[in-house]
Amino acid sequence: MAIVEIKLPHHRYPVVIEPGLLSRLGTLTRDAAPHDLAALFSDGNVAETFGRSASNALQQAGYAVTSHALSPGESYKTLDTVRALYDVMLDGRLERRSPVVAVGGGVTGDTAGFVAASYLRGVPFVQCPTTLLAMVDASVGGKVGVNLPRGKNLVGAFHQPALVAIDTDTLKTLPPRELRCGLAECVKHGVIRDADLFSWIESNVDSILGLDSDTLVELVRRNVAIKAAVVMEDEKESGVRAHLNFGHTFAHAIEASQSYGADTGDAAFHHGEAVSLGMVAATKLAIDAGRCDADLLSRLVALLERIGLPTHADNLAPTDQLIDSMRLDKKVADGRIRLVLPDRLGNVFISSDADDDAIRAAWSAVAK
Ligand SMILES: NC(=O)c1ccc[n+]([C@@H]2O[C@H](COP(=O)([O-])OP(=O)(O)OC[C@H]3O[C@@H](n4cnc5c(N)ncnc54)[C@H](O)[C@@H]3O)[C@@H](O)[C@H]2O)c1
Ligand SMILES: [Zn+2]
Repeated sequence: MAIVEIKLPHHRYPVVIEPGLLSRLGTLTRDAAPHDLAALFSDGNVAETFGRSASNALQQAGYAVTSHALSPGESYKTLDTVRALYDVMLDGRLERRSPVVAVGGGVTGDTAGFVAASYLRGVPFVQCPTTLLAMVDASVGGKVGVNLPRGKNLVGAFHQPALVAIDTDTLKTLPPRELRCGLAECVKHGVIRDADLFSWIESNVDSILGLDSDTLVELVRRNVAIKAAVVMEDEKESGVRAHLNFGHTFAHAIEASQSYGADTGDAAFHHGEAVSLGMVAATKLAIDAGRCDADLLSRLVALLERIGLPTHADNLAPTDQLIDSMRLDKKVADGRIRLVLPDRLGNVFISSDADDDAIRAAWSAVAK
């Protein structure tokens, strides 16, 4: 078992990490958000398993539970879903102090969290992330929200949870591709902030992919601690939180080219895979600029490949289209693309120095 305490200026809460933790969810929630009623929103793919465990535990601790299963998938992270969940809450007569408990990945956490942030101007929120990405990234930091037809995460709020309860046993049913995608964010944490974590992942890849129980607790603990440290320094995203975007400006360009292009189906890169390619491109750029040692790129590529993440691709959109799309991303200052680049393992800096030729050369490192 491990606990990471998140301490913000006006709020503190624990992230509890333990295999089998959902069976204790009721007592933990009682401590964090005591009330007679609770709303339980689960991802439809885990509603019968982990949603049911969570519901039983909450009922044993005395909550009358109003449960609802969400249709899985990013396409349901919408205001229509939010509106439907408000109706579920109203039908269940949930009140100002009734917690919303989310069981699922980042889509469930972001959507249910936005409901918690806005229903009756805000009710307590309990996150039970069941994907590695949600455990190490989405459930920490207080960002909640949904997509609009014109773009991702365009509506949202900062709403810190009362409790994050991570049952690492839930990873046993996660599709391996989703596990690998979560690991891309873990590798990112190592590169931007923690060389020891990077080495630890190198030494433990096999136990991680083999879902060894103790290793998963340690993996999640170390990564939550890093995301938490960044968020504690910069709760509302003005400075150092931008470091979490390492690899992401390149990744968003790949993702945009897929969503606006023809139907790429299963061949499309998932977020973590696009981030993997993006981290390789950003590191290449830093090396070309003379800011980073070439060793980092070979270590990064070797680790990503052992995990099973892509480090090059032959089906990327034309480079000029990708660069145009990078310019449309949020991280542009005075027409220059702002990039997070590594200068050594465990440290990054923000640069607007790269011109189009440098960025084109970086893309060529992954487009083969
Ligand atoms: N709030 C934040 O700070 C933040 C940070 C990063 C990402 N996000 C958001 O997170 C979302 C992506 O999250 P995600 O990768 O968890 O995707 P997801 O929630 O769509 O889950 C991925 C898939 O795994 C399934 N699933 C979940 N848990 C499972 C389990 N234990 N066993 C079997 N199947 C399971 C889901 O049904 C889904 O099909 C995006 O919408 C992104 O915008 C938010
Ligand atoms: Zn990401």
